[in-house]
Amino acid sequence: MDKFVITGGAVLQGQILTNGSKNSALPALAAALLTAEPVTLHRIPRVRDIRTMQRLLVDIGAKAEVEGETVRLHTPNIVCPEAPYELVKTMRASSLVLGPLVARSGRARVSLPGGCAIGSRPINLHIFGLEQLGARIHQSHGYIEAEAADGLHGAVVHFDRITVTGTEDLMMAAVLAKGETVLRNAAREPEVVDLADLLTKMGAQIEGAGTSTIRIQGVTQLGGAEHTIIADRIEAGTFLIAGAITGGDLAVTGCVPEHVGALVSKLQQAGVDVTQPNSHTLRVRGGARLRSVDMTTEEYPGFATDLQAQYMALMTQAEGIAIVVETIFENRFMHAQELARMGANIRLDGKQAIVAGPRELTGAGVIASDLRASASLVLAALVAKGETVIDRVYHIDRGYEKIEAKLARVGAKIRRVD
Ligand code: EPZ
Repeated sequence: MDKFVITGGAVLQGQILTNGSKNSALPALAAALLTAEPVTLHRIPRVRDIRTMQRLLVDIGAKAEVEGETVRLHTPNIVCPEAPYELVKTMRASSLVLGPLVARSGRARVSLPGGCAIGSRPINLHIFGLEQLGARIHQSHGYIEAEAADGLHGAVVHFDRITVTGTEDLMMAAVLAKGETVLRNAAREPEVVDLADLLTKMGAQIEGAGTSTIRIQGVTQLGGAEHTIIADRIEAGTFLIAGAITGGDLAVTGCVPEHVGALVSKLQQAGVDVTQPNSHTLRVRGGARLRSVDMTTEEYPGFATDLQAQYMALMTQAEGIAIVVETIFENRFMHAQELARMGANIRLDGKQAIVAGPRELTGAGVIASDLRASASLVLAALVAKGETVIDRVYHIDRGYEKIEAKLARVGAKIRRVD
């Protein structure tokens, strides 16, 4: 199992390029199941979750050609409309094939995901939505079986709570349903908008993506398309925090500044100098004394839960008390114990983490528990005294492409060991 060995103290300087968004690429790949024509996607990040999704699509019947960051998928027929437990248990986003499969072939068999490191993460809202669209759902042996032999029909789906992949799954189901579907209390994340853009290129009729009400007029079939995935706002945000925490001068390029607006605002309140030299670059200059700033995670455009762990690492270096509240997932503070092993002063109280700083961190052996928790440990290690060894970095490989190479290029002392 790979580990990262990081020697803290380096000040990051230079330019770092953002990849395409993992969480945009995953539904985009699943959307290719909706058509018998080829779909070509550019700027697909080369991370483990994407490889898992490609494997799943190939098992379902897609032909996949990969060349660098371009993936071409062609699914003339759905051979096996199933997402097996072996894949779903390693990547919950596999449930994104549910909507496309029912829409295209009238049936799907998808394993229920089971437990997860950051919370219970059920898919009841995906199922509820599909039922509204006329699918008959049956659960047995740990699998959800959905059937709509005569096709889906449009309906009003009001989500009890905002769900990102739930919105995406239902949007993909509704594009081939008969009549109009209205998704209310829909997620407004940029990844939802990106998926709507791709589906529109394929011939779908969608209005309102990016707002909480999305209207979809079903069409009888979709065609092929070519699409470039948006920048990964969570990767960009992680690098901005890396610049800030090391007191560096880092330009994060190839990003969409608006998509990290909530983080930039917090960084500025904390005393970090953040500027936007052009439409696709943010420059972060640290070095000034950091101030503690409270933060609560929210759905977009609020502060992303996927940046909470990284922000907590930053707050260990800020003067004062920061109260970090996690509202999206019930168990997303696994990194707090590991940060504490490095010397952070963090008290957990239900949904809140109370971070008192600044504390000098010292290198230690720590364990990555999930994707973003691992990123926060990397950030903490960059400022810790001495050497930190992060175990189980396969978690970070799920969503960050060559993070160690990118950070090393801007001055970090980080290496991967087997
Ligand atoms: C997406 O997960 C992202 N994954 C997650 O990225 C991200 O943390 C999350 O949205 C929140 O922004 C992808 O896009 C592939 P949700 P998703 O459904 O869609 C509850 C990362 O690190 N809920 O918006 O699975 C759920 O338990 C990650 O890249 C239900 O109760 O999240 C959670 O508390 C991990 N029933 C809340 O809603 C449902 O049917 C929001 O979850 C669905 C969700």
